[in-house]
Amino acid sequence: MRKRTSIAITGIDAAVFGVVDLRVTNRFLDDFGLHRARSGRFGVDYRCVDRSEVSVRPADSPQLPQAIEPGSTLRELIWGVGNRRSLDAIAGSLARDRSASFDSEGTLHSVDDTGLAIGFRLTRRKALKTRPSAFNAPGCAVRIDRHAPFYDHALPQEISHVVLGVPDIGAVERFYCGRLGFRVSDRYVGRAVFLRAAPAGNHHHLFVLNSADRRIHFNHIAFKVRDIHEVIGGGQALAARGWETHAGPGRHYPSSACFWYFKSPLGGAAEYAADEDMVTAKWRARRFVMAPENFSEWRFNSPASGGALAGAAIAGSRRA
Ligand SMILES: [Fe+2]
Repeated sequence: MRKRTSIAITGIDAAVFGVVDLRVTNRFLDDFGLHRARSGRFGVDYRCVDRSEVSVRPADSPQLPQAIEPGSTLRELIWGVGNRRSLDAIAGSLARDRSASFDSEGTLHSVDDTGLAIGFRLTRRKALKTRPSAFNAPGCAVRIDRHAPFYDHALPQEISHVVLGVPDIGAVERFYCGRLGFRVSDRYVGRAVFLRAAPAGNHHHLFVLNSADRRIHFNHIAFKVRDIHEVIGGGQALAARGWETHAGPGRHYPSSACFWYFKSPLGGAAEYAADEDMVTAKWRARRFVMAPENFSEWRFNSPASGGALAGAAIAGSRRA
């Protein structure tokens, strides 16, 4: 058996976007519930509750890495690393066949095999302790004389994952698993693969799909909220402010998460997600068959999807 690279990547620490309309993007992220941590002529740095960040810059900012596609899009994905030894190991490994250099704040900047700029830094995220919601079920009432939480807006707790359309999912899997110690959580055979950065934790941090035009595209960024009540409350608040739903509310089969996606001025979509499967090294990756009727929530920018969910999501459970 091939020895796994021992690298402690903890998840997405920051996502850097270049946008064509900074004003509209900032209004969207304010409404979405992110906290403005820093702003200036350079743009705005937003934070989730756990301090994972979304940095917004003008698309033509000379500070940004080269764009992967025209318009507003993801410009760099920065991964959090648990310790200095891992960070140095990543730097040494990447420097063998590509540019990999630290900036003055200690973030390592490089590029993956699809051409997306990637960064690595000692994680600045803090561990959250959220009290789970109590749900009543027939014959099992655990919330007595108390109403369920009601959210008039969402407060994104952490960045969950990023999704990209890519020219070749096999190349992405080889790079992230072979060079950075990621693992495959599930796959749609020949079409898409769910990758997680660490053996234990999120079901996925990165999900990639083969794109029809064999180019790289940003698809969406997802933020965890506390529970399904917050998915609904946050989505209703955004809709009331005029932001357009891309898909949802609904529920994914592969990660169990409840979701609501909105069309985002960051490019692609922004997703509220709750109750994602958390896994360990014992998790056995599944192989699903992808069919149009069970995959519509990810068919971004496809006229065929019309932005709607079609068919039962459970159809995605068909095994290959
Ligand atoms: Fe997602």
